Amino acid sequence: MTKRFAFLALITGIAMMVFAACQAATPVPVMEVSEPVNVPAATEAPVEAAPALTGDAVRGGRLYDKWTVELGVDVPEGDHPLWATQTTNTRSGSDTWRCKECHGWDYKGAEGAYGSGSHLTGFVGVMGVSGKDANEILGILKGSSNPDHDFSAYMDDQALTDLALFLSEKLVDYAAVINPAAGKTFFEENCIDCHGPQGLALNFGNAEEPEYQGTIAIDNPWEFLNKTRFGQPGFPEMPSLDDAGVTDEELDDLLAYVASFPTSAPVSEGGVLYDNWMKAMGVDVPATDQPLFATQTTNTRTGADTWRCKECHGWDYKGVDGAYGSGSHKTGFKGLLDAAAMSAEDLTAWLNGTKNPDHNFTGEGMLGDAQVEMMVAFLKSDKIEASAFVNEDKTIAGGDTERGKLIFEFYCATCHGEDGRTYNFGDAAEPEFVGTVAADNPWEFVHKVNYGQPSAIMPSGINMEWTLQDIIDLLTYAQSLPAN
Ligand code: HEC
Ligand code: HEC
Ligand code: HEC
Ligand code: HEC
Repeated sequence: MTKRFAFLALITGIAMMVFAACQAATPVPVMEVSEPVNVPAATEAPVEAAPALTGDAVRGGRLYDKWTVELGVDVPEGDHPLWATQTTNTRSGSDTWRCKECHGWDYKGAEGAYGSGSHLTGFVGVMGVSGKDANEILGILKGSSNPDHDFSAYMDDQALTDLALFLSEKLVDYAAVINPAAGKTFFEENCIDCHGPQGLALNFGNAEEPEYQGTIAIDNPWEFLNKTRFGQPGFPEMPSLDDAGVTDEELDDLLAYVASFPTSAPVSEGGVLYDNWMKAMGVDVPATDQPLFATQTTNTRTGADTWRCKECHGWDYKGVDGAYGSGSHKTGFKGLLDAAAMSAEDLTAWLNGTKNPDHNFTGEGMLGDAQVEMMVAFLKSDKIEASAFVNEDKTIAGGDTERGKLIFEFYCATCHGEDGRTYNFGDAAEPEFVGTVAADNPWEFVHKVNYGQPSAIMPSGINMEWTLQDIIDLLTYAQSLPAN
């Protein structure tokens, strides 16, 4: 941990503590198995050992996963008879017949990954039979320990033998090879500050093809490992783990953990589309102005602006009832806060011109199905009502400048500089910096900090899990930064 990173504890300390507490406080209820496991004791071994079984242990591994599919047979009617002896896992039907559902992918049952969460059954693992005589295991599969655990009516002898051989010979304690839990701790210590808890804060792709940490870890683990070990060209602030003496084991754990991250973040993706979908997708601006723009005369912009959702509906999503109710941006068009209550079908119909042919944003070079879904997710999401904090003169009520300064210096200064002037979003004649946006258009500031910047690598606050207060504090401080 570098010293800079120690700020995190200060800023998000409470959130992290709550998070940690939730994790620690969740009891791991281990269910009593109604009928005790009754594996024949070793001393009962027959004087003459049964002949060694022959079969395909690898096929057994697939049968363990989903024997009905591997054998091409129908799933038995109803639930597995042992299913009713537990209540925590509420699945039904085919899942209840899968070995993995009761005994876990890690073969550890209640003692492993299925020891909590929706897959919890409380049933024992199968690790205990690893290395045992396959004949003994075959017996268990035929009900020797519990008649309800007899699978011989559903599978032929060879299938049961293959399963027994698999359990005897092939079980591996994956925790000894990879340990995603250790990867999680490692990630939280080294990466979370910039990439967010689920690796979704920075989109390395665009709205056409989003790319997050999870995407790279899955699609291209070699790239992930190279960048993680040596750093990111052009962005020296991202630490090189190699310099920090990372071990291969730590890298494996990290990769295993990050590969479990989601690979899409529809709400923030929709948010940047709302800002400027042409820029966010990297497509050309349509040749003519948006047709509805001609139905008003107060806003005299042309071209790309006429196609931006924000230009007609506002940074505050309130249209004519909000900040764009007067001034050069006024169109008189309605806001979209009520649209959050509309169905996905209705919202889609608004976006593809079904509701109003002049309100069509789909087709060649425009939003595709995936982008419409992102937009709908954004429209339906809760949005920050920044107006509640913006005074008549655009100063901010209820913000803590000192706290905002800490957040800015920790999260924004790396790219924008201590004074917010590294990037000029305007031009030489009319410069626009972080301070300018914060002072002139607090609603725009809040939108961009929340959802990110189209086609630029900038963190999205909602994927950093920043609170409303974090954003308001940040905005308050940003207003004190130089505006020109
Ligand atoms: C509906 C849940 C369920 C399903 C499905 C299930 N089991 Fe079990 N299994 C149990 C329970 C409960 C026990 C222990 C109870 C007992 O033997 O009375 C057990 C015990 C075992 C044991 C003995 C473990 C030990 O250490 O004694 C083995 C081996 C086993 N199961 C293998 C399998 C295989 C292979 C499959 C898939 C064909 C399978 N089980 C499907 C619930 C299930
Ligand atoms: C100080 C902030 C920061 C920290 C800490 C950080 N990163 Fe990054 N990371 C970035 C930024 C910013 C980029 C994108 C830079 C660019 O391309 O302009 C990036 C890019 C990446 C990329 C490459 C994406 C691509 O396709 O170009 C990977 C992979 C990555 N980070 C992994 C990690 C991992 C794993 C950790 C923790 C061990 C980590 N990062 C820690 C800021 C950070
Ligand atoms: C050129 C101005 C303009 C642009 C750009 C624009 N809209 Fe609209 N939007 C309107 C007008 C005008 C209406 C009302 C039309 C009507 O009643 O037929 C509307 C209606 C809507 C509605 C229905 C609202 C309701 O309460 O009935 C939604 C949802 C919507 N727009 C979303 C968007 C999204 C998302 C974008 C960006 C992809 C966007 N709009 C871009 C002008 C615009
Ligand atoms: C990893 C780098 C990075 C970080 C961290 C970052 N930004 Fe940005 N930001 C950018 C880039 C790149 C742009 C686009 C610059 C351009 O268009 O010239 C941008 C644009 C902006 C804009 C909008 C400019 C406009 O009008 O189009 C604002 C406002 C902004 N950032 C605020 C912030 C704040 C506040 C933070 C901290 C919470 C932050 N940024 C963190 C890279 C970053």
